[in-house]
Amino acid sequence: MERTIIKDKLNRPLHDLRISVIDRCNFRCQYCMPAEKFGPDFEFLPRSALLTYEEIERLGKIFVSLGVEKIRITGGEPLLRKDLPLLVEKLSAIEGLSDIGLTTNGVLLPKFAKELKDAGLKRVNVSLDSLNDELFGQINGRGVGTTPVLEGIEAAKQAGLGVKINMVVKKGLNDTEIIPMAEYCKEHGLELRYIEYMDVGSTNGWKMDDVITKKQIYHLLKERFELEPVGPAYFGEVAKLYKYKDKAVNVGFITSVSESFCSSCTRSRLSANGQIFTCLFNGNGHDIRNFMRNGATDEQITERITAIWNGRDDRYSDERTAETNNNRKKIEMSYIGG
Ligand code: GTP
Ligand code: 5AD
Ligand code: SF4
Ligand code: SF4
Repeated sequence: MERTIIKDKLNRPLHDLRISVIDRCNFRCQYCMPAEKFGPDFEFLPRSALLTYEEIERLGKIFVSLGVEKIRITGGEPLLRKDLPLLVEKLSAIEGLSDIGLTTNGVLLPKFAKELKDAGLKRVNVSLDSLNDELFGQINGRGVGTTPVLEGIEAAKQAGLGVKINMVVKKGLNDTEIIPMAEYCKEHGLELRYIEYMDVGSTNGWKMDDVITKKQIYHLLKERFELEPVGPAYFGEVAKLYKYKDKAVNVGFITSVSESFCSSCTRSRLSANGQIFTCLFNGNGHDIRNFMRNGATDEQITERITAIWNGRDDRYSDERTAETNNNRKKIEMSYIGG
């Protein structure tokens, strides 16, 4: 397969594509889609606005021809999109792709894990912010306890999918869960990544004060466990990884606030309605859906994506300060899929 790896203004190659397939979610996580803002009257995208699976497949092939080796499917909650395994099957058949993963809240995994694996999915990253049912129900805004998520994790493992756990840590909310989550994940052989609470979107009321940094979490872990650093698995990996000395299990940190990683950011994002975003924090999407629906050829689409990537100079997390975070047009995490 012919591949031209395109670079952006800061010389960063295009390597990952994160595709949001739906903007809805069955959860209302406080840090992502707070229930007060995403109530019954909130207008989600109409079905006709969503890219079809054929359209996503077509774009996926073009992105791969421009350097993408990794695709991650996200949402909202991606498993709410009808027949998702069909999309996985189409994407995993693209020549030149080496990894295909899914980021999910896990609740629908018992239903879909096996089908997803059979369709070619390799891994799932499951969000779980607490092991305490009451607290977890409060965080997810829907009173859902941990059991459905733990069952989802088990189903993914049983199906032979790789599993990582994402825990967003917010001061005063779930910092008491840092050690219990580490113990649980270590015992069950799951890679846990602590995620610094980020100022994505404009609805979660983010304050720098609410952030618990990698350094703080690391100190807590060191009191309880012996850890050794592990190098990145690939250029541009967002998590900083460690391994428990007495067990072959990793634990990691996603330090978007305290130690930004924009200089190696190789990720492009495609929203459910077909806009390309060049940064999690850059709210100016580039339309590709209408361009495609108006009859653009593969060549023209390739040219457009190349121009968008060549013009990219985003490094929001590098530039962020407590003062700058409210001054720009941002995009909701649930819309762009994290
Ligand atoms: P793998 O390394 O492939 O397992 O996945 P990942 O960590 O890239 O993806 P995942 O969807 O699990 O993301 C975990 C967290 O990292 C989420 O909170 C994302 O928003 C955050 N994240 C992923 N990519 C970026 C990025 O480019 N910039 C920032 N600031 N955060 C990111
Ligand atoms: N800060 C950090 N991570 C977030 N996520 C959602 N909102 C935020 C936020 N404000 C995470 C979810 C999920 C991933 C896709 O993004 O927990 O694991
Ligand atoms: Fe839904 Fe994931 Fe956002 Fe929670 S973090 S509201 S599960 S999209
Ligand atoms: Fe990439 Fe933007 Fe995140 Fe920096 S802030 S790592 S440029 S997505």
